[in-house]
Order: sequence, then structure tokens, then C-alpha cells
Amino acid sequence: MLARVSTQDADLHGRHIPAGERMLFLLAAANRDADAFEDPVQVKLDRRRNAHLTFGSGAHRCPGSPLARLEMRVALEASSRPFVLTQIVNASADSAGRPGLRCTGGRS
Ligand code: HEM
Repeated sequence: MLARVSTQDADLHGRHIPAGERMLFLLAAANRDADAFEDPVQVKLDRRRNAHLTFGSGAHRCPGSPLARLEMRVALEASSRPFVLTQIVNASADSAGRPGLRCTGGRS
């Protein structure tokens, strides 16, 4: 959500917005505009037309977006690796005698 204050009177979609009015903009709603995006509610990591507003726009556009994109790439790659049980210890009981399995590590 973005917050702004209008600098001049404006008319938008039948609503009058006086100068000095405080406004909130829902970026998530803009990102689901069917006129701007094909299948707007579908998660498509390889969208071609993708002028989304997640990081804002204009002078205050997010300067951290390259870092955020990198973090997301690392997280998606890490979470898509298979997690494998490398060792099953005490398959019938844990150290307190409770039944069950204990995983001791993962492998990518
Ligand atoms: C998924 C992660 C992130 C999202 C969705 C996001 C989103 C946004 C948005 C929408 C704005 C614009 C706000 C406005 O116009 O009022 C913004 C601004 C900003 N973001 Fe991010 N951001 C993210 C990550 C980061 C990171 C990782 C950093 C820094 C390391 C960062 C630093 C900033 C700063 C300093 C501004 C203010 C820019 C200005 O006012 O000129 N953001 N962010």
C-alpha cells in the first residue's frame, strides 16, 4: 500500500480528489488488473508483460528491489531442492522411548 497527498485538484473515475487529500493506493489490486496482466491471479514467474507495481514507481521506487529479487531467487532455488532423509535414527523409538522417526540432516 502506498500513501500520497494530492498536490492539485483532480477528477479520477468519477471521483473528485481535492488538493491536499490523503490517499492510499493498493498495489496488490493494481498488480491484479486484468487490463494490464494476462491471468492476473495466476503466479507466473516467467511473465512477458509484467509492468507490476510491487516495488512502486517513479522517484520513490524501491532502491532495494535488486536485493529483494536476489533473496527471492535464492529462497525459491533452496526450497525447490529435494530434502532427503540422510539418516534415520531410532526408527522404532526416540531417546525417551517415544515411537517415531528422527531426521538428522538434509542433502541438496
Ligand atoms: C519484497 C521486498 C520489497 C518490497 C515489496 C518493497 C516495496 C517497496 C515499495 C512499494 C516502495 C515505494 C514506497 C513509496 O513509493 O511510497 C519501496 C521503497 C523503498 N524500499 Fe523497498 N521493498 C522491498 C525490499 C526492500 C529492501 C530489501 C530494501 C533495502 C535493502 C528496501 C528499501 C527501500 C527504501 C529505502 C525505499 C524508499 C525509497 C524512497 O522513498 O525514495 N526495500 N519499497
